[in-house]
Amino acid sequence: MIDCPQPGRQPTFRFAISRAAANPFPMTDTVFVLNGPNLNLLGTREPEIYGSDTLADIEAMLGEKARELGLAIDFRQTNHEGVLVDWLHEARSVGARAVLLNAAAYTHTSIALLDAIKAIELPVIEVHLSDPATREAFRHISYVGMGAVDEVKGLGARGYAVALEKAAAL
Ligand code: DQA
Repeated sequence: MIDCPQPGRQPTFRFAISRAAANPFPMTDTVFVLNGPNLNLLGTREPEIYGSDTLADIEAMLGEKARELGLAIDFRQTNHEGVLVDWLHEARSVGARAVLLNAAAYTHTSIALLDAIKAIELPVIEVHLSDPATREAFRHISYVGMGAVDEVKGLGARGYAVALEKAAAL
């Protein structure tokens, strides 16, 4: 049987059919929220670009949103690319429903993250506080975006809540 997140709803995201065959793990209501390098410094890091909320503020706000949506979040941050790869693999093995991924600068450089996103066959939503498309040219390429099913950019901290709503609607 196709592992469809909502009974009666057609599996619209492109992983639905292959996931049933490739991912033997039962799906939970947990959404992984993975944050990459330098996001631990939110609140003091270039607040004119990223706002004044800390990552702890965002986690608390998103936890509240998750409760409203009947979901749980597993919220993490690392400065290391390989740790993000390991956490993407873990999301699959624990049956995460989706992943919100702000890979920060690794967004623009990491083929390893793109490969991991493709490998896990979970819906990954790309999140950014700022809108990289309106910034320096080197931020215009997104390897994460090549594997993600959706993106939320330029909404500041609120973008995480918007992304969680999108995950809930998958
Ligand atoms: C970011 C945008 C990236 O270009 C940048 O490297 C970051 C943060 C954002 O959330 O706006 O570290 O991902």
